[in-house]
Amino acid sequence: MDLENFAPGSGRLEPRAALRSDAPSLNLNGDWRFRLSPSAGLPDDFADPGYDDSAWATLPVPSHWQLHGHGSPAYTNDLYPFPIDPPHVPNENPTGDHRRVFDLPEGWTGGRLRFEGVESFARVWLNGHELGYSTGSRLPVEFDAGPWLVPGRNVLAVRVHQWSAASYLEDQDMWWLPGIFRDVSLTRSAADVFVHASYADGRGTLSFDGPGRLAIAELGVADLAPGTEITLDAEPWTAETPRLYEAVVTLPGESVRVRVGFRTISIEDGVLLANGRPLLLKGVNRHEFHPEHGRAVPYETMRADVLLMKRHNVNAVRTSHYPPHPDFLDLCDELGLWVIDECDLETHGFGHVGWRGNPTDDPRWAEACLDRMSRTVERDKNHPSVIMWSLGNEAGVGRNLTLMADWTRQRDPSRPIHYEGDRSCADTDVYSRMYASHAEVEAIGQGVEDPLTDPELDARRRAMPFVQCEYAHAMGNGPGGLADYQELFERYPRLAGGFIWEWIDHGLAHPEFEYAYGGDYDEPVHDGNFVIDGLVFPDRTPSPGLLDLKKVFEPVRFAFDDQAQVVRVANHHGYRDLSHLTFVAVVEEEGVPVAEFPLEVPATGGEVKLPDLPGGEGERWLTVRAVLAADQPWAAAGHEVAWGQTRLSAEAGLSAEAGLSTGAGLSAGAGPSAGAGLSSGAQDGLTSGAQDGASPGSGGRGVGSGADLEFDPATGRLTRLFGIEVEGPRLELWRAPIDNDTYGGLADRWRQIGLHRLTHRVDAVETGDGLTVRARVGPAATDLGLHVVYRWTATDGGLELTVDVEPDGEWSVPLPRLGLVMALPAAFGDVTWFGRGPGEAYPDTGMAARVGRWSATVEDLQTPYVYPQENGHRADVRWAELGGPSGGLRVTGDPVFGLTARRWTTAELETARHRPDLKPGDRVHVNLDFAQHGVGTASCGPATLAQYELHARPATFRLRLTPTGAPDA
Ligand code: GAL
Repeated sequence: MDLENFAPGSGRLEPRAALRSDAPSLNLNGDWRFRLSPSAGLPDDFADPGYDDSAWATLPVPSHWQLHGHGSPAYTNDLYPFPIDPPHVPNENPTGDHRRVFDLPEGWTGGRLRFEGVESFARVWLNGHELGYSTGSRLPVEFDAGPWLVPGRNVLAVRVHQWSAASYLEDQDMWWLPGIFRDVSLTRSAADVFVHASYADGRGTLSFDGPGRLAIAELGVADLAPGTEITLDAEPWTAETPRLYEAVVTLPGESVRVRVGFRTISIEDGVLLANGRPLLLKGVNRHEFHPEHGRAVPYETMRADVLLMKRHNVNAVRTSHYPPHPDFLDLCDELGLWVIDECDLETHGFGHVGWRGNPTDDPRWAEACLDRMSRTVERDKNHPSVIMWSLGNEAGVGRNLTLMADWTRQRDPSRPIHYEGDRSCADTDVYSRMYASHAEVEAIGQGVEDPLTDPELDARRRAMPFVQCEYAHAMGNGPGGLADYQELFERYPRLAGGFIWEWIDHGLAHPEFEYAYGGDYDEPVHDGNFVIDGLVFPDRTPSPGLLDLKKVFEPVRFAFDDQAQVVRVANHHGYRDLSHLTFVAVVEEEGVPVAEFPLEVPATGGEVKLPDLPGGEGERWLTVRAVLAADQPWAAAGHEVAWGQTRLSAEAGLSAEAGLSTGAGLSAGAGPSAGAGLSSGAQDGLTSGAQDGASPGSGGRGVGSGADLEFDPATGRLTRLFGIEVEGPRLELWRAPIDNDTYGGLADRWRQIGLHRLTHRVDAVETGDGLTVRARVGPAATDLGLHVVYRWTATDGGLELTVDVEPDGEWSVPLPRLGLVMALPAAFGDVTWFGRGPGEAYPDTGMAARVGRWSATVEDLQTPYVYPQENGHRADVRWAELGGPSGGLRVTGDPVFGLTARRWTTAELETARHRPDLKPGDRVHVNLDFAQHGVGTASCGPATLAQYELHARPATFRLRLTPTGAPDA
């Protein structure tokens, strides 16, 4: 049966370029009749034009039928959801029969039926005549319709099987989503042209292959014959300056428009160049995805992707792991993104059987592999944005790759060839890796990477530029370590940058879960939430990872001298100066603007003298911003491209505040605070309570008997603060594991030790100069613990807490976090803080978080990761006010602390599996952190770098708590 055939198709026409033609075309998208069957072996009587389909459902085309109530989706990363026994597929083979009746316009003759994408196996009939079959889901196919078209009513019937032999070639990490998911048309265009436009020494060179004559009116080119090469004055195309010229090729019977961009990609001395200059790829991997439509992505969504990328300083896309909808590449040409166009080939699941029988190395699959490559190249060959061809992804190694590469090189010598899966790089022009650690990337940058065993291949590879085709796995909270990678990419010319994994979370809209991932459709084999690993949430809201990436990819950098008299502005664009930007500076005192002025920055960058900046009492920061001077096609004037900050004064925080005790810094081991003035309420409470007998276990009476301050004598825990019922601060280490903690194995180690279930033993509650609680905090069944001393002293109008921590035992695992947990009444729903914001930040993330004064509701402090996990930590907080309409609480750090506030506990956050599982309780749970462990990218790739690890060590942490009045009081 064809389904289990190695041949990629039958009855198909030769592949050709996607072109805009003036030849008539009928759009056959729209409502089709549809029937789903559980297996493949049905009679094909439905192809008969007289067949009665009135009982069938209606299905929009393009679409995936599973997203319209017929069957359900399934997700696997690399596991084949069927036995590995090529070319066989299961009998259970969801099969969608599609029918479409259309009227042929008067006088229409001939034409091709064109399918831009059908997953995975399509058999096509026109008016009862079988035209052929096709595989290669994300590639176009055309059939000659001419002989079978009839005047008036025509009936198109398409049978789509989910599984076929070709499924073995399509094991990408994504939802399995069958259907006619891209456009269908009947076109009378038959043209194919290949335009060659290069750029060197300030001039463009132009020629083309194909029939007809080419003209570019804007350049005065007319009647250019195929094969004739001309050199002319033209502006170059780059992703930063996407200059396009409209060419018209006039052929017999039609003329086609091709947007031409003059650019040359080359490799010299191991460096990747565009138009002779080093090309640094600041890229993302983009799957086609929409939470309601799957891979049937609407045009506006594709455009939104490109705009979002451009606005976040992304300059490159790898079309993982298949050619995208052709319109996407038009958008990349037009708005400017460098593209690695990847063939629709992945056989990753063979890795689970030791790569035995891998199609990539099996001659029986040679035709199918080559077919996929040639259809990729032929369709997309005219796009200036496409700068490399990728043979596929994770398809092992083998002879068919060589065939594909040889064919590609011969067909299009102008673009380097990429493939990651073969470390020998025998078939490629660039050395590509995924998830290489920082250390390894650095070694490659220096050219001192481990050699290949074959010296010739080794020498060849050593002369190649390096591309990290996937790095910084953006799953859940993270990725960490972005800035560290970027620093390497910018330091070593051999490193041509890379592509973050990946652009979007593939969460499917779900009535109960909000967004579904693997297993949510009861798939017997699945890979859980590994499909939720993007820089944007499924609805394309940027996650903190994308905001960080924008900062790390900034094309303008600022550096300040110590006295803040000069700012150095460096232009990091590859191909343009700074004249499209304007620069503004603002001075803020405790986050409140006190001065603002423009900066005159030379187009080439350089040193700019700052005016005399205003002084002041509070902590002052200078922020310089580069914004678009005028509208660009991808963002409006005023859009911020880059920023930099420098502190102009001493840090605020506890020790800087007048009238407060001056203890030592955070980690220096502060002693008890000395001589602070005691407010009467606090003083009385502490003193009288102590006299009432405050030793642990002495009965129900609180240590503090003042009305507005109370401690539990058994636990030493504050229960009433300024009249507010609280569960006072106590030390905890746990965070709801992030995906990197979980997949990287750290969360298991933490749980084994029991860091999620610490016990708190109070050894002493002492009064005197305030209240001192001595405790040992540790998990059951180990001898690991932390001695903690909480020292409370009353100060001017408030309370000061010093926490000394002393590890006990042999700690060999990093800690999730080290900080205090407390709970406040639910009314404390508004937070204002002076520190880094507005978004979250962890030790190795949060580059986008700048120092300022920020406000948010507790709800808005949450980062809604699709798979709930630790999030929302605000870093370097000098002070924060938590409260509601009737006042609240101010926490001041010494000098800073980390803050999270949630309407659920850490345990509730940890057990939640989807966003709707998180239900607000009657408390606001506040973490006041001394430190957090870094985030890393261990869900796929290196763990947290050593410099961002948190280890148990002696620490001192000091805070001041004061009441605040109602905001307008
Ligand atoms: C890579 C693969 C991607 C994705 C990623 C992890 O190995 O190429 O498709 O699976 O890992 O999310």
